[in-house]
Amino acid sequence: MRLSHKDLSSIHDLTPDEFRAILDLADQMKANPVRHARSLERKTLAMIFEKPSLRTRVTFETAMTQLGGHAIYLAPSDIQLGNRESIPDVARNLERMVDAIMARTFHHDSVVQLARNSRVPVINALSDYSHPCQALADFQTLREVRRDLKSVRLCYVGDGNNVCHSLLFAVAKCGATLTVACPRGYEPLKQVVDLATLDAQETGATLRVVHDPAEGARGANAVYTDVWASMGQEAETEARARVFRPFQVNDALMEKADPGAVFLHCLPAHRGWEVTDSVADSPVSVIFQQAENRLHTQKAVLHLLAGGEIRP
Ligand code: CP
Ligand code: NVA
Repeated sequence: MRLSHKDLSSIHDLTPDEFRAILDLADQMKANPVRHARSLERKTLAMIFEKPSLRTRVTFETAMTQLGGHAIYLAPSDIQLGNRESIPDVARNLERMVDAIMARTFHHDSVVQLARNSRVPVINALSDYSHPCQALADFQTLREVRRDLKSVRLCYVGDGNNVCHSLLFAVAKCGATLTVACPRGYEPLKQVVDLATLDAQETGATLRVVHDPAEGARGANAVYTDVWASMGQEAETEARARVFRPFQVNDALMEKADPGAVFLHCLPAHRGWEVTDSVADSPVSVIFQQAENRLHTQKAVLHLLAGGEIRP
């Protein structure tokens, strides 16, 4: 099977069947890693980073090794996207050298430009708009703990940011339920909510945005949060902390959710800010399972986008 798009720029680009197929393959890769040990033999992934990373770098690099290929880490200072060289020129160089490109950028348009200007697949590894690889790992995790994704009633508490956008798209692809609870002025982009709402009509997903965390958590069987200030927003840290304080995921908020509701976080976590230690380290926390699943889901994406025949 190949995906209908050359690139993974947003979960919105996947069909519901493709979304499920990636998760199915990720489950197979997790259960039987040896089976795909040569799937990307002699293939190379270029990893462009404009921002720091622990999970994304380590899981992509490990994924390529486990699939028989190789990854090259390109630090922010190496390429200086659009500064040392134009983004189209970076893409036109790399397509002649490597079999796939992974990019973590400030501006989503940089990922789009890389994709448009290269014949090899480009994978969005976090932009200001979305974080599709994270959502795939999140939904592999949710399926492991809840079995049927349609039974997932997720509450995302916090900033309507890149992670929130990808969760909206992912929920819409699999027919689950998502309530976003965010402060006024920090809602997800209307364009994302509108696109996800259209997708939701196909799958029966339910999407809602509220401004009261307790209202959002009520009836949820999974609670998710992310940092209040994303990478690139460091100057807003203090101002955002004041706005977001009532949106902390703590024991009191978890009590509003269903008994046994699991806790998710894309990590890194700012403990004591958006989440307390008591929640992050509780038995219902699946944050490290999510982090591990970045590896399995990205192996599936790499196999589907860059596997098979060697490109000209
Ligand atoms: N969740 C995530 O993308 O982690 P990193 O920023 O460490 O890659
Ligand atoms: N919203 C966060 C996610 C980090 C994985 C950020 O963009 O920094």
